[in-house]
Amino acid sequence: MGRSGSGKSTLMHILGGLLSFDSGEYYLNGEKIEKLKDRDGARLRNEKIGMVMQNFALVDEFTALENVMLPLDFHKKKISDKKKKAQEALEKVDMQEYARQICKTMSGGQKQRVAIARAIVNQPLLLMADEPTGALDRENSKMTLELFRHLHENGMTILLITHDPWVADQCDRILTIQDGCIL
Ligand SMILES: Nc1ncnc2c1ncn2[C@@H]1O[C@H](COP(=O)(O)OP(=O)(O)O)[C@@H](O)[C@H]1O
Ligand SMILES: [Mg+2]
Repeated sequence: MGRSGSGKSTLMHILGGLLSFDSGEYYLNGEKIEKLKDRDGARLRNEKIGMVMQNFALVDEFTALENVMLPLDFHKKKISDKKKKAQEALEKVDMQEYARQICKTMSGGQKQRVAIARAIVNQPLLLMADEPTGALDRENSKMTLELFRHLHENGMTILLITHDPWVADQCDRILTIQDGCIL
Protein backbone atom coordinates (compact mmCIF):
# COMPACT_ATOMS: atom_id res chain seq x y z
CA MET A 1 0.00 0.00 0.00
CA GLY A 2 1.05 3.58 -0.41
CA ARG A 3 -0.05 6.90 -1.81
CA SER A 4 -0.36 7.54 -5.49
CA GLY A 5 3.12 8.24 -6.87
CA SER A 6 4.94 6.53 -4.00
CA GLY A 7 6.53 3.96 -6.33
CA LYS A 8 4.32 0.87 -6.02
CA SER A 9 3.99 0.17 -9.74
CA THR A 10 7.65 1.00 -10.30
CA LEU A 11 8.70 -1.60 -7.72
CA MET A 12 6.38 -4.17 -9.22
CA HIS A 13 7.71 -3.50 -12.71
CA ILE A 14 11.27 -3.93 -11.44
CA LEU A 15 10.38 -7.21 -9.74
CA GLY A 16 8.67 -8.34 -12.93
CA GLY A 17 11.66 -7.42 -15.06
CA LEU A 18 9.86 -4.76 -17.07
CA LEU A 19 12.08 -2.01 -15.69
CA SER A 20 15.74 -1.99 -14.81
CA PHE A 21 17.11 -0.52 -11.57
CA ASP A 22 19.94 1.88 -10.83
CA SER A 23 21.11 0.40 -7.54
CA GLY A 24 20.56 -2.53 -5.24
CA GLU A 25 20.36 -6.24 -5.92
CA TYR A 26 17.43 -8.42 -6.78
CA TYR A 27 17.21 -12.06 -5.77
CA LEU A 28 14.28 -14.19 -6.83
CA ASN A 29 13.97 -17.50 -5.03
CA GLY A 30 17.67 -17.34 -4.16
CA GLU A 31 18.78 -16.56 -7.72
CA LYS A 32 20.31 -13.23 -8.52
CA ILE A 33 18.49 -11.40 -11.28
CA GLU A 34 20.88 -9.59 -13.56
CA LYS A 35 20.30 -6.98 -16.22
CA LEU A 36 17.15 -6.97 -18.34
CA LYS A 37 19.04 -7.94 -21.50
CA ASP A 38 20.09 -11.24 -20.03
CA ARG A 39 18.13 -13.92 -21.86
CA ASP A 40 18.35 -16.35 -18.98
CA GLY A 41 16.99 -13.67 -16.68
CA ALA A 42 14.13 -13.04 -19.07
CA ARG A 43 13.37 -16.74 -19.16
CA LEU A 44 13.55 -17.01 -15.39
CA ARG A 45 11.04 -14.20 -15.04
CA ASN A 46 8.82 -15.62 -17.74
CA GLU A 47 8.71 -18.94 -15.93
CA LYS A 48 8.64 -17.83 -12.31
CA ILE A 49 6.65 -14.62 -12.29
CA GLY A 50 3.13 -13.85 -13.37
CA MET A 51 1.85 -10.29 -13.60
CA VAL A 52 -1.65 -8.86 -13.67
CA MET A 53 -1.30 -5.33 -14.98
CA GLN A 54 -3.44 -2.35 -14.10
CA ASN A 55 -6.53 -2.27 -16.36
CA PHE A 56 -5.85 -5.85 -17.47
CA ALA A 57 -3.54 -5.02 -20.43
CA LEU A 58 -5.12 -7.68 -22.63
CA VAL A 59 -4.86 -7.65 -26.41
CA ASP A 60 -8.45 -6.60 -26.95
CA GLU A 61 -8.74 -7.98 -30.48
CA PHE A 62 -7.55 -11.43 -29.37
CA THR A 63 -9.70 -14.16 -27.90
CA ALA A 64 -9.32 -15.20 -24.27
CA LEU A 65 -7.39 -18.28 -25.38
CA GLU A 66 -5.01 -16.27 -27.59
CA ASN A 67 -4.31 -13.85 -24.73
CA VAL A 68 -3.55 -16.67 -22.31
CA MET A 69 -1.25 -18.34 -24.85
CA LEU A 70 0.94 -15.23 -25.19
CA PRO A 71 3.36 -16.02 -22.32
CA LEU A 72 3.84 -19.51 -23.78
CA ASP A 73 5.41 -18.14 -26.96
CA PHE A 74 8.68 -18.26 -25.08
CA HIS A 75 8.65 -22.03 -24.98
CA LYS A 76 9.45 -24.46 -27.75
CA LYS A 77 6.29 -26.41 -27.26
CA LYS A 78 3.77 -27.69 -29.75
CA ILE A 79 0.82 -25.40 -30.44
CA SER A 80 -1.57 -28.10 -29.27
CA ASP A 81 0.28 -28.34 -25.92
CA LYS A 82 0.14 -24.58 -25.56
CA LYS A 83 -3.58 -24.58 -26.23
CA LYS A 84 -4.08 -27.25 -23.62
CA LYS A 85 -2.11 -25.31 -21.01
CA ALA A 86 -4.03 -22.13 -21.80
CA GLN A 87 -7.32 -23.96 -21.56
CA GLU A 88 -6.36 -25.34 -18.15
CA ALA A 89 -5.52 -21.83 -16.93
CA LEU A 90 -8.91 -20.58 -18.17
CA GLU A 91 -10.56 -23.42 -16.26
CA LYS A 92 -8.85 -22.29 -13.07
CA VAL A 93 -10.55 -18.91 -13.36
CA ASP A 94 -13.83 -20.44 -14.53
CA MET A 95 -13.60 -18.90 -18.02
CA GLN A 96 -13.29 -22.05 -20.13
CA GLU A 97 -16.60 -21.33 -21.83
CA TYR A 98 -15.32 -17.97 -23.07
CA ALA A 99 -12.07 -19.28 -24.57
CA ARG A 100 -13.04 -18.26 -28.12
CA GLN A 101 -14.60 -14.93 -27.21
CA ILE A 102 -12.85 -11.70 -28.24
CA CYS A 103 -11.75 -9.87 -25.11
CA LYS A 104 -13.06 -6.45 -26.07
CA THR A 105 -16.62 -7.79 -25.83
CA MET A 106 -16.12 -8.92 -22.21
CA SER A 107 -17.10 -7.29 -18.92
CA GLY A 108 -14.45 -5.94 -16.55
CA GLY A 109 -14.78 -8.96 -14.28
CA GLN A 110 -14.34 -11.35 -17.21
CA LYS A 111 -11.32 -9.44 -18.52
CA GLN A 112 -9.78 -9.62 -15.08
CA ARG A 113 -10.21 -13.37 -15.00
CA VAL A 114 -8.56 -13.71 -18.41
CA ALA A 115 -5.70 -11.48 -17.21
CA ILE A 116 -5.25 -13.74 -14.18
CA ALA A 117 -5.34 -16.86 -16.34
CA ARG A 118 -2.62 -15.36 -18.53
CA ALA A 119 -0.55 -14.53 -15.43
CA ILE A 120 -0.78 -18.07 -14.03
CA VAL A 121 -0.44 -20.08 -17.24
CA ASN A 122 3.23 -20.82 -16.51
CA GLN A 123 2.41 -21.73 -12.89
CA PRO A 124 4.59 -18.98 -11.44
CA LEU A 125 6.03 -19.01 -7.93
CA LEU A 126 5.15 -15.35 -7.59
CA LEU A 127 2.02 -13.70 -8.89
CA MET A 128 1.88 -9.91 -8.82
CA ALA A 129 -1.15 -7.74 -9.42
CA ASP A 130 -1.28 -3.95 -9.74
CA GLU A 131 -4.50 -2.66 -8.17
CA PRO A 132 -6.44 -5.70 -9.37
CA THR A 133 -9.70 -4.51 -7.88
CA GLY A 134 -9.28 -0.84 -8.84
CA ALA A 135 -11.55 -1.07 -11.90
CA LEU A 136 -14.03 -3.60 -10.49
CA ASP A 137 -17.24 -3.39 -8.53
CA ARG A 138 -17.47 -5.06 -5.14
CA GLU A 139 -18.87 -8.32 -6.43
CA ASN A 140 -16.10 -8.76 -9.01
CA SER A 141 -13.53 -7.62 -6.45
CA LYS A 142 -14.69 -10.40 -4.14
CA MET A 143 -14.48 -12.92 -6.96
CA THR A 144 -10.94 -11.79 -7.78
CA LEU A 145 -9.79 -12.05 -4.17
CA GLU A 146 -11.35 -15.49 -3.83
CA LEU A 147 -9.37 -16.57 -6.87
CA PHE A 148 -6.17 -15.21 -5.36
CA ARG A 149 -6.91 -16.91 -2.05
CA HIS A 150 -7.45 -20.20 -3.82
CA LEU A 151 -4.14 -19.86 -5.71
CA HIS A 152 -2.39 -18.91 -2.49
CA GLU A 153 -3.79 -21.95 -0.70
CA ASN A 154 -2.25 -24.01 -3.48
CA GLY A 155 1.20 -22.60 -2.84
CA MET A 156 1.52 -19.45 -4.92
CA THR A 157 2.96 -16.31 -3.37
CA ILE A 158 0.86 -13.28 -4.23
CA LEU A 159 1.98 -9.68 -4.13
CA LEU A 160 -0.78 -7.21 -4.77
CA ILE A 161 -0.96 -3.46 -4.84
CA THR A 162 -4.07 -1.89 -3.43
CA HIS A 163 -5.57 1.36 -2.21
CA ASP A 164 -8.50 -0.43 -0.66
CA PRO A 165 -8.22 -1.20 3.10
CA TRP A 166 -10.89 -3.88 2.63
CA VAL A 167 -8.58 -5.69 0.19
CA ALA A 168 -5.47 -5.17 2.35
CA ASP A 169 -7.30 -6.58 5.39
CA GLN A 170 -7.50 -9.94 3.65
CA CYS A 171 -3.75 -10.21 3.08
CA ASP A 172 -1.30 -11.98 5.39
CA ARG A 173 1.18 -9.14 5.38
CA ILE A 174 1.01 -5.45 4.50
CA LEU A 175 4.05 -3.51 3.26
CA THR A 176 3.83 0.27 3.08
CA ILE A 177 5.80 2.23 0.52
CA GLN A 178 6.50 5.93 0.79
CA ASP A 179 8.60 8.14 -1.51
CA GLY A 180 10.09 5.10 -3.23
CA CYS A 181 11.06 3.31 0.00
CA ILE A 182 9.47 0.43 1.87
CA LEU A 183 8.79 1.60 5.43
N1 LIG B 1 12.83 4.08 -5.77
C1 LIG B 1 12.62 4.99 -6.74
N2 LIG B 1 13.65 5.69 -7.24
C2 LIG B 1 13.47 6.60 -8.22
N3 LIG B 1 12.26 6.90 -8.76
C3 LIG B 1 11.20 6.26 -8.30
C4 LIG B 1 11.31 5.26 -7.27
N4 LIG B 1 10.06 4.78 -7.03
C5 LIG B 1 9.24 5.46 -7.84
N5 LIG B 1 9.88 6.34 -8.61
C6 LIG B 1 9.27 7.23 -9.60
O1 LIG B 1 8.06 7.75 -9.01
C7 LIG B 1 7.04 7.89 -9.99
C8 LIG B 1 5.71 7.33 -9.54
O2 LIG B 1 5.85 5.95 -9.27
P1 LIG B 1 4.70 4.86 -9.50
O3 LIG B 1 5.38 3.57 -9.36
O4 LIG B 1 3.93 5.10 -10.74
O5 LIG B 1 3.75 5.16 -8.25
P2 LIG B 1 2.42 4.44 -7.75
O6 LIG B 1 2.23 3.19 -8.54
O7 LIG B 1 2.67 4.19 -6.29
O8 LIG B 1 1.32 5.44 -7.95
C9 LIG B 1 7.57 7.24 -11.26
O9 LIG B 1 7.90 8.27 -12.17
C10 LIG B 1 8.82 6.49 -10.83
O10 LIG B 1 9.79 6.48 -11.85
MG1 LIG C 1 0.60 2.62 -9.80
